[in-house]
Amino acid sequence: MRADSFFWGAATASYQIEGAVHEDGRQPSIWDTFSHTPGRVVNGDTGDVACDHYHRWSEDVELLADLGVNAYRFSLAWGRIVDAAGRPNQAGIGFYSRLVDALLQHGIEPVVTLYHWDLPQVLDDAGGWLNRDTAYRFADYAAVAVAGLGDRVHNWTTLNEPWCSAFLGYGAGEHAPGHTKPGEALRVAHHLNLAHGLGVQAIRSECSNASVSVVCNLHAILPASDSPADVAAAERLRRVGNDIWTGPMLDGQYPAGLIDETSAYSDWSYVQDGDLDIIHQPLDAFGVNFYSSSHVFADGRTLTQRIADAGPTCWVADDVDFKPPSGPLTAMGWNIDPAALTWLLEDFAKRWPGLPVFISENGAAFDDVATPDGVHDQKRIEYIDAHIQAVEAAMAAGVPVTGYFVWSLLDNFEWACGYTRRFGLVRVDYPTQQRIPKDSYAWYQDTISRH
Ligand code: FCB
Repeated sequence: MRADSFFWGAATASYQIEGAVHEDGRQPSIWDTFSHTPGRVVNGDTGDVACDHYHRWSEDVELLADLGVNAYRFSLAWGRIVDAAGRPNQAGIGFYSRLVDALLQHGIEPVVTLYHWDLPQVLDDAGGWLNRDTAYRFADYAAVAVAGLGDRVHNWTTLNEPWCSAFLGYGAGEHAPGHTKPGEALRVAHHLNLAHGLGVQAIRSECSNASVSVVCNLHAILPASDSPADVAAAERLRRVGNDIWTGPMLDGQYPAGLIDETSAYSDWSYVQDGDLDIIHQPLDAFGVNFYSSSHVFADGRTLTQRIADAGPTCWVADDVDFKPPSGPLTAMGWNIDPAALTWLLEDFAKRWPGLPVFISENGAAFDDVATPDGVHDQKRIEYIDAHIQAVEAAMAAGVPVTGYFVWSLLDNFEWACGYTRRFGLVRVDYPTQQRIPKDSYAWYQDTISRH
């Protein structure tokens, strides 16, 4: 890998770090509502202050510069860029404009995600992602954002992990807006796909030389055995976890089987003529977020039975279940399987040869201990090191990987887990907002400088 042709970066997202939820005309999002609803987030934590990045951004840019990254992936808060009527909010745009200028002054390429889950509450009040119109409002917002920043920002990502928005947000109820209906999750998935397609068109019409991507958490779902039933269970889950996005976005069609397999939960009547042409836009790159793998088996139960037995789920498929992960695990309870990343990347490159891929997120939460002489997070170093090697193995096998972004620069608001999970290369001491680079920060700095 060569630093001049490869993005070495770190990633964050607006609601997880910014705080300042009432400043400069920001409109509330579904995550403000959700986190302020008792019982939704551990300890009742909210993003009201988070890492106070909205005020400390210049210190955070210095941290990025010292780290030696040549790219920084962050997201825009939709509700800072436009007001409740969808009109540009210059104060909010100005914040990101100053951030972008500071990054560029340090030779750091901004890689901007338009949607990392913070849908304006006003749009949720009108039906949220269940409402087809939200896809059009997303494109309008994308046009405003690119008009404001596209003279300096070249790399644009439409959506982050639409799977989480649809299936955690509307299926399992673990994420905002907290619905628990499998059929809603499928409808939302289609509207997110549509938003992606309309968003790509909007970005390109405002900025003709933009490099446009989407970021998916492609699941490394492997069969627990080589029995045909388990292999088929893994295939069903990959269709509803991965191909539901890559199918329409990269091939212009939903995967064969998906619509039949889920017909008990949705009639798919919301897919209108022409939608697949809109969704199927040429992309310059595809972002993969990767954390862990899972092993599945056929358990003979329908989704309805599984929900009756175990409660709401994000997995809208019959006859599937997951093996408990085998250790060692991260603090999220996720397994550590770098070989699955190599497999996933090679599989992707076989299916879509030549499409550049970047690792848009990879990292691990551990129960860090802050000592007077620093945070010695050896397990995080080992995790990231093993995954960089897994990426290099995929590259050696010919996969065109163009970047690697650690999740995350800072400890931050980890969604439903609140502040109980720490992913940062830099520790945030929340009461003082002090930033304390961990051992992994120095290690990553050294790793980048050696490549
Ligand atoms: C991903 C999200 C990111 C972060 C990591 C741990 O699913 O995109 O915001 O929470 O997981």
